[in-house]
Amino acid sequence: MLSSRRGAPTIGGGDEEDPTSTTAASSASAEEPKTHPPATLTACLASYTRSLVSRSTIPPSFSSHCLAISLFVAFLFSLLGLSLLLRYTRPVPCIPPYDPLVRSVHFTRRLEGLASDFGSLGVPWCRSKQGRSVDWTPADLIKALEEFVPIYETRPIQNNMYGMGFDHSFGLWFMARWLKPDLMVESGAFKGHSTWVLRQARPEVKIISLSPRHPEKYLKKGPAYVDPNCTYFAGKNFVDFGSVEWHKVLMQHGVKDFSKVLVFFDDHQNELKRLKQALKAGFRHLIFEDNYDTGTGDHYSLRQICDQSYIRGGGHSCFRDGDEARIRSKRKKFWDKALEIDELCGKGETWWGVRGYMRDDFNHSNKAISYAEHFQNSRFVESVLNVYWELPPVAGPSLTHQTRYDPARAPDPVVEDGRYALFQRLGLGKLDPSVFNGYTQMVYVEISP
Ligand SMILES: C[S@@+](CC[C@H](N)C(=O)[O-])C[C@H]1O[C@@H](n2cnc3c(N)ncnc32)[C@H](O)[C@@H]1O
Repeated sequence: MLSSRRGAPTIGGGDEEDPTSTTAASSASAEEPKTHPPATLTACLASYTRSLVSRSTIPPSFSSHCLAISLFVAFLFSLLGLSLLLRYTRPVPCIPPYDPLVRSVHFTRRLEGLASDFGSLGVPWCRSKQGRSVDWTPADLIKALEEFVPIYETRPIQNNMYGMGFDHSFGLWFMARWLKPDLMVESGAFKGHSTWVLRQARPEVKIISLSPRHPEKYLKKGPAYVDPNCTYFAGKNFVDFGSVEWHKVLMQHGVKDFSKVLVFFDDHQNELKRLKQALKAGFRHLIFEDNYDTGTGDHYSLRQICDQSYIRGGGHSCFRDGDEARIRSKRKKFWDKALEIDELCGKGETWWGVRGYMRDDFNHSNKAISYAEHFQNSRFVESVLNVYWELPPVAGPSLTHQTRYDPARAPDPVVEDGRYALFQRLGLGKLDPSVFNGYTQMVYVEISP
């Protein structure tokens, strides 16, 4: 008994095409990679020098000698400025506009209370029937983080661009280990990183993996993971989750009780559709990897569905001169994925889903829905939810240097900003910062009709 809670790119060269691989690739580019290369000092200095040169107004009478001297002096001044900056701040190789230090100075000195202003909109979530939550605590998460970092370092796919980064790998591993399922089902495998994570959590348990392209196809081009104790419905044997005869398949795997199965979705399909399919089959424990915030992503997510005005943090105003527009436009300067009102709102001030659309299948099948339909969807979801738990980001942005998601739209991180010693003690400081850029509110739900 369970104890309680972008699309992949087409890597060419396979002889058997993935039916959704073009979809996946286009989604990946639309959604952009979940990793970003860090800015380099050379690039930073080069652009700074370029901007100095472009800003200089040099009289035509100046000889090239004078020009060289003035450039040299300007360069010396810039070096002096840089050394003062480095002396009085934390040593960072470059100060890009998204630098957490710049952001935090900006927030604390000039925009005091901005995060709590946004908090009046806050973090939407789904109400469960009885208001139940998970058994685990923040202390359990911290303890598990320390254990997981060395495991993560041994991952076979070191660069899982377009797949899960550190936060969600940790979340999946933690929940699979805590819930102790007798069988794990995965929909959306890509190169197999998430299969590997599930395997680390439950070494003896059978996995069923559904993905149009078999992960072994990726082995031709580079690292991939194929699990020896996994039944693959992949390649020419691919069957969509909604079309599997689950009673039969579970019987074949010696599992009678659906509540002993954990289902993990990372297939970028409409989560309302997946929720209904899972419920109909009889599954109880689901994890959705990409639980996109309202206005973002390539499929309708639980978070979008539950984003309703009666929920703290829910519902939106498309009023261009309102507080929400003002706050959004400020936060957009700091976080890649923060949205301006114009990006959030579609025709007729539709803000739900993505500008009034219920997206599906990597943004390839979209349907405009009315607010009444959107509201009905949330009522349905709430009526089947026993537990809704969003994985918090593992650490605050000043520690991870992530620049993607707006922390004001995410639950409080496991390791909060300022807890640098803890961050280091857990081994998180050893990881490449790019692995922290893929957080999209992974969610665990326990459901029943
Ligand atoms: C974002 S990737 C999964 C990443 C993977 N879970 C990881 O973390 O490494 C999405 C995957 O879903 C697959 N996919 C597309 N349509 C699907 C469907 N209907 N059912 C299952 N998987 C699907 C894509 O081919 C791709 O491999």
